Amino acid sequence: MQTIGVIGAGQMGRGIAQTVAAHGMKVLLADIDLATAQASLDVIDRGLAKLVGRGKMEVAEAESLMGRISAVADYTPMADADLIIEAATEKEPIKQAIFEKAGEILSQGAILASNTSSIPITRMANYSPDPERFIGLHFFNPVPVMGLIEVIPGLATDPQVTERTVAFAEGLGKQVVLSQDEPGFVVNRILLPMINEAVFVLGQSTASIEDIDKGARLGLNHPMGPLQLADFVGLDTCLDIIMVLYNTTGDSKYRPAPLLQKYVEAGWLGRKTGKGFYDYSGEMPVATR
Ligand code: CAA
Repeated sequence: MQTIGVIGAGQMGRGIAQTVAAHGMKVLLADIDLATAQASLDVIDRGLAKLVGRGKMEVAEAESLMGRISAVADYTPMADADLIIEAATEKEPIKQAIFEKAGEILSQGAILASNTSSIPITRMANYSPDPERFIGLHFFNPVPVMGLIEVIPGLATDPQVTERTVAFAEGLGKQVVLSQDEPGFVVNRILLPMINEAVFVLGQSTASIEDIDKGARLGLNHPMGPLQLADFVGLDTCLDIIMVLYNTTGDSKYRPAPLLQKYVEAGWLGRKTGKGFYDYSGEMPVATR
């Protein structure tokens, strides 16, 4: 694959764009408008500058990587793309509108993929012109660092499309887990109940934010505690995923922790808003409870 379209230039879209460009492919990055996509490109550029500053990347490599990513105002230039990856916010109506619009320019034989964390692929495939060429391609944050991609074929996905998608993911230097199209796929089905449970533990005042995270870091050897990780993923995204698990299975074990809902209602969404379970305004994160 030579040209990849990425729709949604937030945390995930940016990471996907950077990783794809780092592997020699051309990336067209779109968001709601050109200015938003361009601003995201600037964030990638600053991230690469940091890597260069720490001696992790050569200046020339960073420059050639950036040279392969273009911000685009709309999807029209993606008519040349072999694969279009949607990485927009985890709201189905937003994704539906993207698939319908991208479907208008998707070239013959090209694949349309969703980076959804949990919304059923088989259902979203119906928003695209050809469900046989629609697939789930789920990256993990931070995309340039994490070694896994989940590939989720829907009921109608052509097996050759699955093969091509797995080859693409492996070409990014990642390992692949193939998942059936079940709520939360594999990793989030395990992760989100853990994060949600950690918020219940906090809500019941069983332990402090710091101690819950310390417990997972030192007692389980996780690189981040569950509340720290929730802030990293985004509390709105965590709530969206747990709600998908709850609504699609009807199983009460996935009911969202009231405190998670409260934080989202307060707009305390984690690192991206500067405050979640921790406040990030100072030099070191400080617990908010
Ligand atoms: N591009 C390239 N490299 C990057 C990078 C970027 N954007 N960001 C970080 N890195 C590199 C750093 O240069 C560093 O490299 P070296 O080891 O060679 O020095 C390495 O990544 C580690 O970075 P840091 O030293 O800055 O930080 P750290 O050691 O504290 O690790 C972390 C940070 C990798 C995020 C680690 O804390 C971690 O693994 N946390 C858990 C992350 C996780 O669970 N992610 C999955 C979330 S769930 C999800 O994404 C799915 C979903 O649908 C919700």
